[in-house]
Amino acid sequence: MNMEEQFEVNWHGHACFTLGMTKKVIIDPFLEGNPVAKIKPDSVKVDMVAVTHGHFDHVADAVKIALKNSAPLITMVELAGILQEENKDLNAVGINYSGSTTIDGIKFTSVPAFHSSGYNGKYGGSPMGIIVTDGLKVYHAGDTGVFKDMEVIRDLYKPDIALLPIGGYYTMGIPEALYASKMLGSKYVVPMHYNTFDAIRQDPGKFVEGFKDLKGQHALIAEIEKPMKFDKNGNKL
Ligand code: NI
Ligand code: MN
Repeated sequence: MNMEEQFEVNWHGHACFTLGMTKKVIIDPFLEGNPVAKIKPDSVKVDMVAVTHGHFDHVADAVKIALKNSAPLITMVELAGILQEENKDLNAVGINYSGSTTIDGIKFTSVPAFHSSGYNGKYGGSPMGIIVTDGLKVYHAGDTGVFKDMEVIRDLYKPDIALLPIGGYYTMGIPEALYASKMLGSKYVVPMHYNTFDAIRQDPGKFVEGFKDLKGQHALIAEIEKPMKFDKNGNKL
């Protein structure tokens, strides 16, 4: 098969993934100071950076990676404004709920997240989830509690793959993420935002067990730096 028609999802630990088919997009890069990360921000080669909200465990290395790669940084408009103000050379792209921007053929759509979003003591705008479309559609939920309008995300965007937090404490735990998975209907759901710290310790096997009741849907437990590959029809290879 043509390598260019493979969609790759690589987990770097916590909420950080690199994904894409024709381009590489890193979301919520938190590598420096992340106890489970295996790579350093300096080694990251990407075309675009996306950030869901202003909390340190999501925005951590985002500016550094964006600048080093001359990559645009896509996030909520208020946070984009703050980061732009702090870093004149940054190409910050600020969007807001239901809004999209397409950069080099990759579409980023902002969707709600039920969370908070301070950045270094400042108001960082609202937190968001991001749908990345590069052939396949991936929904990165960001940090969020469960909310019924995930059904709107399903109806409008039909994400092939959903990346959902399961750690609890700051976000959904396993029961909420299973409920969310059912609402979203994505064929594949990859749990994230767990086992980075003690407060968010979870057994992902329990998440997998819950999928016995979700027909046609599968939980995929990612291993850090072991990319998962999908064909252009959204089937795991
Ligand atoms: Ni957060
Ligand atoms: Mn977080």
